[in-house]
Formats: sequence, C-alpha cells, structure tokens
Amino acid sequence: MKIFLDTADIEEIRTAARWGVLDGVTTNPTLYAKVGGSYDDILKQVCKITPGPVSAECVSDDVDGMLEEGRHYATLAPNIVVKVAMSENGLEAISRFAEEGIKTNCTLIFTTNQGLLAAKAGASLISPFVGRLDDVGEDGMELIQEIVSIYENYDFETKVLVASVRHPIHIVQSAQLGADVATMPFKVLEQLFKHPLTDVGLERFLADWKKTGKSFED
Ligand code: E4P
Repeated sequence: MKIFLDTADIEEIRTAARWGVLDGVTTNPTLYAKVGGSYDDILKQVCKITPGPVSAECVSDDVDGMLEEGRHYATLAPNIVVKVAMSENGLEAISRFAEEGIKTNCTLIFTTNQGLLAAKAGASLISPFVGRLDDVGEDGMELIQEIVSIYENYDFETKVLVASVRHPIHIVQSAQLGADVATMPFKVLEQLFKHPLTDVGLERFLADWKKTGKSFED
C-alpha cells in the first residue's frame, strides 16, 4: 500500500521523504490555508520533493472553471493529479480530463455508488473520507471494503486512496482491505513507527552497551 502525506507543509513533506516512505502527497484548500503563500509555488516544490502523485484541488464548481484550473495545475509538474469534488459537474470534468490524459483524484467520496460513478467517469484515484464518516457514527472502513471489492469485480483501473485518516488503526485496516493508498496527516505517519516498548528497549540496549566500556571502533 502506498503512503501519501495529507499536508501542504513543505517541512513535513521533506522529512517524510528523507525517511524513504513517501509515495505522494494530497493537498486541499483547508491544508493550503494553514500554510498560505502561492499555491502554485507550493505545488511545484512538493512535486520536486516527491516523484509520486501530488493532488491539487479545484475550487470552481462549474465544469469550465474546473477544466481551466485543472489544465493549469497539470502544467506545473508531470506528477500533478487534479483533485475534483464528487458532484454532477465534477463527474463531467473528470471524464473530460480523462479524455485529455490529465489524471484526477475524485474527492469527498462518502458512498459506494459515488465510488462506482467516479471510476466509470475515469478518475485515476478516488478519496473516500473514512474519518468524517466515523465522526457521524458510520463505519468508514466498511465503505473502503465495499469499493475495493467492487473495483476488483470489474477490474477498474481507478485506485482507492483512503482519506480523512485519523489514527494508525485506519492504516492497518486500509492495508488489510487492499486499499491502494492511504493519505495521512504527518502526526499519524509519526505514530506508525512509534511504540513505547521500542523506546524502552532501545534505551536499555544503549545503556548496556555503555556499561561494556566499548566504543564502536574496538
Ligand atoms: C485528502 O485528500 C482529504 O482532503 C483529507 O484527507 C480530508 O481529511 P479531514 O477529514 O481530516 O479534513
């Protein structure tokens, strides 16, 4: 399963890239609003740091506006993926982008049928929001299971990108269900490699090594 960071913060992206685990990045207007500056410049920098897909979100709600924005984003770097919100106009824009060879990520997916339509329209990726479903008392991971199995039934090429991730269990379940990608905040990525027993174990190994009085060169 690929690991994407859900952020527009360049330092977080650089750090994850140094760890060797970063496969791509998703941004959205909320994440961009946290860092500010030029969205184009941020996208160009992110696309240089990660060779994987970088989602840039359209903010128009009419088809022509989405097409204009998406075509512009696609000129910024070869790894740009245009993020389009699920809607009637969004589906039309996605199918037009597919004809033009521009990759898309259909976002704000909350039902299995939305996932089915996005794949039929030609989305490269879809983003079902598991955390926001959990927040309203639904089971976000059930949606992932349904969409993954339907895509397998019909050999859709559209990839399932689990979004709105809140904690490490979402990541384990996404991988168990065969999701293609999970995008997560930096805080969740950090939580993936941390465990108190690892910290205690390492502390003990280092203390015991020190007791031997040896140095690495001995
Ligand atoms: C990613 O593409 C989504 O925009 C993001 O995961 C939404 O997460 P949130 O529900 O935490 O805002």
